[in-house]
Amino acid sequence: MTIKSNFEIGFDEFDEMVRPAPAVVDFDTITEAAMSRRSFLGGGVAFGASAFVMGSTALSVTNAVAADHKQSRLAFEMVKANTLDTVTVPKGYSWQVVASWGDPLWSKAPSLDTSTGGTGESQEMAFGDHNDGMALFRHNGKTILAVNNEYTNYNTLLANREGGIPTTSDDIRKSKAAHGVSVVEVSQTEGKWHIVKDSKYNRRITAETEMSITGPARGHKLMQTAADPKGEVAKGTWNNCGNGQTPWGTYLTCEENFNGYFSSSDKDYKVSPELSRYGVNVKDSGYRWAMADDRFDLVKTPNEPNRFGYIVEIDPTDPNSMPKKRTALGRFKHENAEVTVAANGHVVVYLGDDERGEFLYRFVSEGKYTVGGDHSELLAKGTLFVAKFHENHKGEWLPLTPETTSMTEAEIAIHTRLAASKVGATTMDRPEWVAANPNKVEAYCCLTNNKNRGLKTNAGGDATPPTGPNPRVKNNFGQIVRWKPTNEDHTSNAFDWDLFLLAGNPAVYDDANAGSSNINQDNMFNSPDGLKFDSKGLLWIQTDGNYSNKEGFAGQGNNQMLVADTETGEIRRFLVGPKECEITGSAWSADKKTMFISVQHPGEKGNSNWPDGGNSAPRSSVIAISRDDGSVIG
Ligand code: FEO
Ligand code: CA
Ligand code: CA
Repeated sequence: MTIKSNFEIGFDEFDEMVRPAPAVVDFDTITEAAMSRRSFLGGGVAFGASAFVMGSTALSVTNAVAADHKQSRLAFEMVKANTLDTVTVPKGYSWQVVASWGDPLWSKAPSLDTSTGGTGESQEMAFGDHNDGMALFRHNGKTILAVNNEYTNYNTLLANREGGIPTTSDDIRKSKAAHGVSVVEVSQTEGKWHIVKDSKYNRRITAETEMSITGPARGHKLMQTAADPKGEVAKGTWNNCGNGQTPWGTYLTCEENFNGYFSSSDKDYKVSPELSRYGVNVKDSGYRWAMADDRFDLVKTPNEPNRFGYIVEIDPTDPNSMPKKRTALGRFKHENAEVTVAANGHVVVYLGDDERGEFLYRFVSEGKYTVGGDHSELLAKGTLFVAKFHENHKGEWLPLTPETTSMTEAEIAIHTRLAASKVGATTMDRPEWVAANPNKVEAYCCLTNNKNRGLKTNAGGDATPPTGPNPRVKNNFGQIVRWKPTNEDHTSNAFDWDLFLLAGNPAVYDDANAGSSNINQDNMFNSPDGLKFDSKGLLWIQTDGNYSNKEGFAGQGNNQMLVADTETGEIRRFLVGPKECEITGSAWSADKKTMFISVQHPGEKGNSNWPDGGNSAPRSSVIAISRDDGSVIG
């Protein structure tokens, strides 16, 4: 199959294409059992009013929520689903664009020329493409936003190339510079947020930025290349999806679909099983970086892929600091990195691996966090665990150690998926963002969807029965699982779990695809992805799903953002994005009067002119949302 550009195929489809999972028909019997209503209704006590039961019982629980006349904590009028090419927010709220792909960060840089998509040089001085996770930092009275730039669309980035196909090395330079992280100072003038050009904090981190490799994989022979014979300094970061923020003021950026940038000039090259597990293939997903850089040619630089798929720690207040790859937090298709400090002082980081049938992880630091202490290497050493969920709503964190895996610490850090398969972790429906409740010892994770659930194994051959927190065969809608660590201790190895919600479409289905009791025809959506608690303890849910508004998705409209009260289970739609976008990433201003979010890839199939309108090229953008009465939002 010829891949012309990434425009034609998503990362998930690419993985399926290069590494089709074997169909496993043995699941059929389990599948039938799991799809019966009895199985959904059985066992387990839900934690709040938000039971995850299905069918007719579901409606009565929803009504119970609606009939509760206590003041809702979601104090806004729900936005209706729509397919407009704009952002829709509730009455009394407004939005504005803060930063868009191609916006110059320095006054010496030219404005974006959308007829060409700019040049390598202009992109290196501009806001990157496909903004995703973000965090806000206050430093010396300044407001600094660190924003991931996950990937790019060659049809807009390479607007001057036939079919969006790169033809020169500068096209590849531009593509590399559109990826990574944009660190920008922002400021509010007459109520409008804008980039502060020439701020000393402005910085672009791209696929070319040098970063120190820390943790167990540092210096290992699998990390060594001709350009870096010691295996200690990697070059760059890309496909930066979700993020994290530490209490000591650093930014964590998470490398997700790193595999699709590598290819082989020798099509007979045998990719190792270890790299195959991650979807590395002789064909790339359309980026063609190998055309201009031998690092991306597997024949020439076979260890290069081992240096990607990590969490990277960045100090946004020091533009000269070298980012640090934190290999102790494992190598996989990282979504976000939710950092919390346990009562005993250990730092706990929850981590999802976003691929069908992959796993949910937890890192526990060896050292402890102390206010004012030195935290520069807290993420360099600790233990990685992987989640196992049992049917009785109990779960456990299984340590990944040389004793449990017969692998060295470095091998566990590099081949993390293989280690997790060895200990029998639970295959999940694509773990996306994890959010820890700031007011309660519990955490939530979006399991966005998994069309292979119950039908195919994961890439490592592990079974994916429709059980536990992944109960639906061919799961098109996704769900949110939550867990409460035993003894209210995030370092405890045991937890209780339930499903906070099962997304679905009760207008079309009356079976498991209708969703859970707290989903109704007014607030329904599919594919929960971004997830974050605000300071009041409300849970913001962002979607990256099917926006066809047809068939099973009829009535759900464009991708969107909702807010949930996790105590009552109530969910309201707060925002609808423009056509063919996803909504992702969030941060609040210090005074909580502004919420920043990412609108990523509007018009990914060519059908949007957002945000500039007319016939303009669509541009991924960070927007700021505020209340017209100036009160706090989150
Ligand atoms: Fe980049 Fe799993 O979303
Ligand atoms: Ca995501
Ligand atoms: Ca997603």
